[in-house]
Amino acid sequence: MSRTPLELVRLAAGFLADKGVDTPRLDAEVLLAHGLGVSRIQLYTEFDKPLAEAEVAAYREAIRRRAAREPVARITGVQEFWSLPLRVTPHVLVPRPDTERVVEACLERMAPSGRLLDLGTGSGALALALLSERPGWSAVGVDRSEGALATAGDNARRLGLADRLDLRAGDWFGPVAGERFDLVVSNPPYVPSAEVDRLAPEVSRYEPRDALDGGPDGLAPLRRIAGDAPAHLAAGGWLVVEIGADQAADAARVLEAAPGLGDVAVVADHAGRPRVAAACRAG
Ligand SMILES: C[S@@+](CC[C@H](N)C(=O)[O-])C[C@H]1O[C@@H](n2cnc3c(N)ncnc32)[C@H](O)[C@@H]1O
Repeated sequence: MSRTPLELVRLAAGFLADKGVDTPRLDAEVLLAHGLGVSRIQLYTEFDKPLAEAEVAAYREAIRRRAAREPVARITGVQEFWSLPLRVTPHVLVPRPDTERVVEACLERMAPSGRLLDLGTGSGALALALLSERPGWSAVGVDRSEGALATAGDNARRLGLADRLDLRAGDWFGPVAGERFDLVVSNPPYVPSAEVDRLAPEVSRYEPRDALDGGPDGLAPLRRIAGDAPAHLAAGGWLVVEIGADQAADAARVLEAAPGLGDVAVVADHAGRPRVAAACRAG
């Protein structure tokens, strides 16, 4: 018996709820809309006809993957970040809405023109969002994952920003020896190693471990970045980093301990949780 899209969504949402997915109806709608190449709203306004067999089969496969707790963005291959449609591949962290607070904290500190460094660029999310807002800026994006750099390069080309984003492979500041920037931004791995496997299956099974694991206390990458940042920041330039919601005090101590950094600030997200730390290189 053929089914209409809405009947399929209802059945799929019930199945996903039984599998522990926390937004079953939304996910069922997004996956069907993606499979049919329409918007979610079009599912309701334009689609009361039964689907073709091939469309139903493709939807079943997408729902099977989501029931195994694969994130929606990994199934569709796309995640919106700062209103930019970014491609995601198995090599990159799926960019999070929380990270948009980092973009805001940077924009508040950026002059009309300058040059920024995005450490651990992944999909290119931070660099691309900032370049899209500031036409007078250029960026270097560093990642030690070649797969991530390929994904970031693809995103930059699709968004018409490739001529302003220079992507380099290596370990944190390694590929920018001797260079200084007006802004250094990073969303480094910050989950304590022992906690990575206890995260939701969507994260622990499907995100690259190298994007998550921040060493024994979660702060090892931040210590490296803060220690080397002063040598790579222009006078008055800012270091802006994402932090875990319970890391505010420890992250602030790390930044305060770095010779050459001052004006340390912790920035809360819109729910009041501290999620960004910033420090300025003394002039
Ligand atoms: C949490 S993800 C952030 C990705 C992206 N910036 C975002 O906000 O969505 C951290 C990134 O840092 C990269 N990374 C981890 N250790 C690194 C290192 N030592 N040097 C350079 N990049 C590193 C990972 O490959 C990953 O892409």
